[in-house]
Amino acid sequence: MRPLRVAIFASGTGSNARTLIEKAQALGETLEISFVLSDKATAPVLKKAEELGVRTYLVEKKLDRQNHEQAILNILREHRIDWIFLAGYMRLLSGTFLRQFALWHGDASQIVNIHPSLLPAYPGAEAIARAYQDRVSHTGVTVHFVDEGMDTGKIIHQEALSLSPEASLADWKEMIHRLEHRMYSNFLESLSLGQQKTFYFEENQ
Ligand code: GRF
Repeated sequence: MRPLRVAIFASGTGSNARTLIEKAQALGETLEISFVLSDKATAPVLKKAEELGVRTYLVEKKLDRQNHEQAILNILREHRIDWIFLAGYMRLLSGTFLRQFALWHGDASQIVNIHPSLLPAYPGAEAIARAYQDRVSHTGVTVHFVDEGMDTGKIIHQEALSLSPEASLADWKEMIHRLEHRMYSNFLESLSLGQQKTFYFEENQ
């Protein structure tokens, strides 16, 4: 069996991307991060990936959404990608994109995202800061499948964290990001162990 091929999409810092790459490298032959793709030329994630020896693609949205997504689909097909991990990718994917990617994998949904809240609470940007402002007694992290909506896809796994209202926002962010890194790399590992059903890219595409 060939290694599972994973692509990471990210627009920002890339701490989750880095953790996923390091985890994949530790897992050995079973799984590879084939590339990191970003839509932002200035995203620090690009440098992080390159330093770890992972190929990067910059696909900026210069034209309309359809052309942008088609350019991405071409790269995914070229690499025969099995799974996509969104890690701070600041764009929604269209139904057309999701359907095309699923068609290459027995119609299975194999795109996941990580979000720093207990969805459906606090979807969208600045989730940690908004929860902090509300001084919620606990928050957490969600790994979920991706659909067309903003953080609305089927939930795979959630973990809660109790956070002190006296702690700073920076403390909250640090604890939540640490939990994200653990949860996302555990999910990656579950793929490599075959604990999560995977449809490989159908080679006749
Ligand atoms: C993370 O909080 C992730 O949950 C959210 O975007 C952030 C990305 O952070 N979707 P990083 O770029 O991985 O450090």
